[in-house]
Amino acid sequence: MSLPPAITKTEIPGVPCKRGKVRDVYDLGDRLVIVTTDRISAFDWVLGEGIPDKGKILNQMTLFWMNLLKVENHLLSTDPNEMGPAFSSLAPMLRGRAILVKKTEVVPIECVVRGWLAGSGWKEYQSSGTVCGIKLPSGLKQSSKLPEPIFTPATKAETGHDENISFSQMVERVGAETANTLRDRSIDVYSRAAAFAHEKGIILADTKFEWGKLKSGEIILIDEVLTPDSSRFWDEKSHALGISPPSFDKQFIRDWLESTTWDKNSPPPAIPQSIIEQTRLRYLEAFKALTGKSFA
Ligand SMILES: Nc1ncnc2c1ncn2[C@@H]1O[C@H](COP(=O)(O)OP(=O)(O)O)[C@@H](O)[C@H]1O
Ligand SMILES: [Mg+2]
Repeated sequence: MSLPPAITKTEIPGVPCKRGKVRDVYDLGDRLVIVTTDRISAFDWVLGEGIPDKGKILNQMTLFWMNLLKVENHLLSTDPNEMGPAFSSLAPMLRGRAILVKKTEVVPIECVVRGWLAGSGWKEYQSSGTVCGIKLPSGLKQSSKLPEPIFTPATKAETGHDENISFSQMVERVGAETANTLRDRSIDVYSRAAAFAHEKGIILADTKFEWGKLKSGEIILIDEVLTPDSSRFWDEKSHALGISPPSFDKQFIRDWLESTTWDKNSPPPAIPQSIIEQTRLRYLEAFKALTGKSFA
C-alpha cells in the first residue's frame, strides 16, 4: 500500500505559530488558522511518526459534527484562500486540514461527558462507587450504560495528565454561571451526538469538548468535536459488559506501545509501518461508520 506522506509539521512564513500536540495554531489577531497535522500522541508523548491523512480525517469529522449539531462554534472558513496570501500559496497542502476560526479565550476546563462506564471513570467507580465524585447506582459493570449522561470536568494540564475535578471545583475556577452553562450545553451536545451515532450502530461512550469565550462574553464550541482523539466510540456489535470494547481510537497504537519495552519516560520507539497503516485504517473506519461516506 502506498500512502501519502504524513504532514507532521507545518510552517507558514511570517505568521506566529503555537504548536499543540496535534494542531499547529496560527495567530492572525482576532482569528486563528488551525491546521490539524498528522501527528499522533499517546501516553502524553507525541510519537515520532505521523499517521498519513489523520489530520484531514479528524478535521473533516469535526466539520461533519459541527454541521450536523448546529452548535454555535468558532468556524469561519475552510478555504485556504480566505486565510491570507501566506496560506493560499500553500493551499494544496492545507485544503481539508486547515480552518479559519474566531479566536477565543479558552475556558481552561476539559468538558467531559460520559454516557457509559469506561477508562478512568470505571477505575474510580470500582474503588468508590463514584465517577468524579458523582454517586452512581451499585452493580454497574465495566462498559455499562449509565442511567443518564454525566458531566465530569477535568483541568487542562499544561504538562502531564489531565486531572479530574469535581463540579464544585470547576465552579471555583470559572464561576457558577459559566460552569452551569458548559455542563448543560456539553450534556446536550453529547446526547444529540450519541443518538445520531446509535442510528449508525455506534456507541459514543464518552467525549470531551472545549469551549471558548468571545469578547462579547458569548461562549462557543471550539477545537475538535467528537473525533476519535477526543471520544470513545464503540461498535455496538462488539460491546459487552465486563470488558473494554475495542474502540475506533488510539487504543490500537497504545496496545502496540504497551507490547514494547518502552518505559513511557523517554522518547517513544519508532512505529513500524504496518502499525502506522493499521492505525490509519482505524481512523478511516471511524469516519466511514459515522458519516456514511468514504474519506476521499
Ligand atoms: N477558537 C479557538 N480559540 C482559541 N484557542 C483555540 C480555539 N480552538 C482551539 N484552540 C486551542 O488550540 C489548541 C489546539 O491544539 P491541540 O494540538 O489540540 O492542543 P493540545 O495539545 O492542547 O490538545 C488547543 O490548545 C485549543 O485549546
Ligand atoms: Mg487538543
